[in-house]
Amino acid sequence: MNAQELLQEISDYCRQTGLAESTFGRRAVNDGKLASRLRHGGRITTETLDRIRSFMTTNRNSVARPAVISRGHEAPQAIAAARSLTAAAAAPLPIASSSRPSSPPPGSGSDPQRNFRFFDNRQKYLLFVNTCSEKWVVANRVSLELHNIHPRPPALRLFDAGVGDGTVLLRVMRAMHDRFPHTPFYAVGKEISLEDVRLAMQKMSDRFTEHPATVLVLTNLAYADAPWLAVKSLSAAASAVWHEVALTGTSAHQFEQQITNLVPFLNENWKAGVSPKTGNPVYERPVVLVVYREDHKFLLDPIIPKPGGTIANYDLVIASQPYRARASLDFKAKRVIAPLSRALGPGGRLIAIHSHGNDPGQEIIQRVWPGDNPFLHDRHQIMKAVKHELGPAGRDLNFNAYADNRSLFRYDMHTLPSEITQESSIGTSTLFAAWNAAIYVSQVEDHRVAEAAADGRYLEATAQVLQKHGGLWFFDESYVVSRRRE
Ligand SMILES: C[S@@+](CC[C@H](N)C(=O)[O-])C[C@H]1O[C@@H](n2cnc3c(N)ncnc32)[C@H](O)[C@@H]1O
Repeated sequence: MNAQELLQEISDYCRQTGLAESTFGRRAVNDGKLASRLRHGGRITTETLDRIRSFMTTNRNSVARPAVISRGHEAPQAIAAARSLTAAAAAPLPIASSSRPSSPPPGSGSDPQRNFRFFDNRQKYLLFVNTCSEKWVVANRVSLELHNIHPRPPALRLFDAGVGDGTVLLRVMRAMHDRFPHTPFYAVGKEISLEDVRLAMQKMSDRFTEHPATVLVLTNLAYADAPWLAVKSLSAAASAVWHEVALTGTSAHQFEQQITNLVPFLNENWKAGVSPKTGNPVYERPVVLVVYREDHKFLLDPIIPKPGGTIANYDLVIASQPYRARASLDFKAKRVIAPLSRALGPGGRLIAIHSHGNDPGQEIIQRVWPGDNPFLHDRHQIMKAVKHELGPAGRDLNFNAYADNRSLFRYDMHTLPSEITQESSIGTSTLFAAWNAAIYVSQVEDHRVAEAAADGRYLEATAQVLQKHGGLWFFDESYVVSRRRE
């Protein structure tokens, strides 16, 4: 659904019921400026979308007449509102930085997964990745797997199942160069969010300079299609965009300029909306962007993918935070990890990482919401479900859970050495960053965050935990699915 469609729906509703646009917004979601904000490109959460929908469903027959009768002055306003709404902008509803899939039952407004996602979480993600060391630590953990892979000609094949801001991919590609300096790289990243694609691409010019034999592919395809760069749905395939960019020149500066020039192409094509059926983010049209250095085109020819799809056969698959913590076990296994496991080549390794809890971050959450625990499934449960899902296709796969001391790792919020002491009070921005990290990692739904923000206790809880531990840290859990070598 895009902004125009939603505004049209609201407009139709207002016309039928005689409500003014501002009254509608106030009654539905306590925001008289809702429609006007939407028209100007404002973001809403899926929770807000659910509330709008449920208001319209519940009040279709009952609200309008009494409202118009008791406030006669609203009738002309309603007409004006209807007119202005139909002239609304056609921009799609912007989605946040996440490409995480989930499978909430359609229309389930109370589903916690839907409520966490997505529109407003972009800022939380960006603050989190810049204030905590997680993406560095994840990249280090992933890079350890480079010791266990044995790429075969013509290239080392890497798949990143959710590029995000690109920090993990960038750092892993650096480590790949360090270990395999003369091996061509074929790196494919899946990402549905326009902003994340922009952020990730901005980081890549140095990679083409240090490691010229690189083919980098970004795509917004779904998990089941992205590793093969092939779209199963015929109707989607008909609107697919395949864009190849051969970078000219030899310096990072020149590459950066050409990558920056891609922004209008990205804006035009990397659009996403929300599936009315599932509430998941979905692309408007499938896009594959292929980037390599023109002066290496001849050498790279065997690995530059061609429209219509390609082999997967990955040596390394990164699945960093690839599903919502509260997603069902079935979803995590069937929709995410199983298809990614199928994409492994002989000797290939998939490393999956998700938040674990049982850390000071979760302590903050539990002080505010006692008993809250979003971390529903551990690595053992997920791998068991993946094995079951794959059946005979999983015969030549190994499922490596490892002991806790290898699987679990810690990352920290960056703080200055003297910032957190028992004696002094902690700066407000540090407290906000810590609170943001805690609610982000625990994927707390926006309406609960808003409730907590209504009183000051959440900052007290955050300060107490920071002081108790002298800082803030979190645990991630990792596991590896590997395919036997032939
Ligand atoms: C853009 S994706 C992740 C992309 C990339 N793989 C990464 O690790 O940054 C961001 C999604 O992953 C989830 N996510 C990222 N880091 C997380 C963390 N440390 N804990 C919980 N969820 C996280 C968020 O909910 C968000 O929907």
